[in-house]
Amino acid sequence: MALRDIVKEGEPVLRQKCFEVTLFNERLGVTLDDMIETMFAADGVGLAAPQVGIPKRMCVVSIDGKTIYELVNPVIVKTAGKQRGIEGCLSIPGEHGLVERPQTVWVEAKDRFGKLNKYKVSDLTAVAFCHEIDHLDGVLYIDKVINNDKKE
Ligand code: CO
Repeated sequence: MALRDIVKEGEPVLRQKCFEVTLFNERLGVTLDDMIETMFAADGVGLAAPQVGIPKRMCVVSIDGKTIYELVNPVIVKTAGKQRGIEGCLSIPGEHGLVERPQTVWVEAKDRFGKLNKYKVSDLTAVAFCHEIDHLDGVLYIDKVINNDKKE
């Protein structure tokens, strides 16, 4: 496993629509392991492939550092409720902002082996899923900030 460099805002890869993952091979697993290691090393709760310069539809999420979600070609199939919370992004260091997200999301995604999993997640996990899946369409949380609350 290896740490990857995290791409910062301003790089075009963060603003593009990412490509579906089609090859579920050993290299995909290595990339996901690197993303997980990079996320933990940066004290993040989520990381999307474009944030390490890879325009593919996959991301990792771990709120508690124990349960690790790897979402390949994720699709939000249903949402319920609303919540508002302060978000940041490893690609936009030093900034935070208030964003509205669903309270609960139902997501279908493949794992590194191509197996389809179905998730129903709420609260912070739902926020992280939505934030990371947005990255796969070139959307950053700053596009959705309600009240800009910058913290240096
Ligand atoms: Co982010």
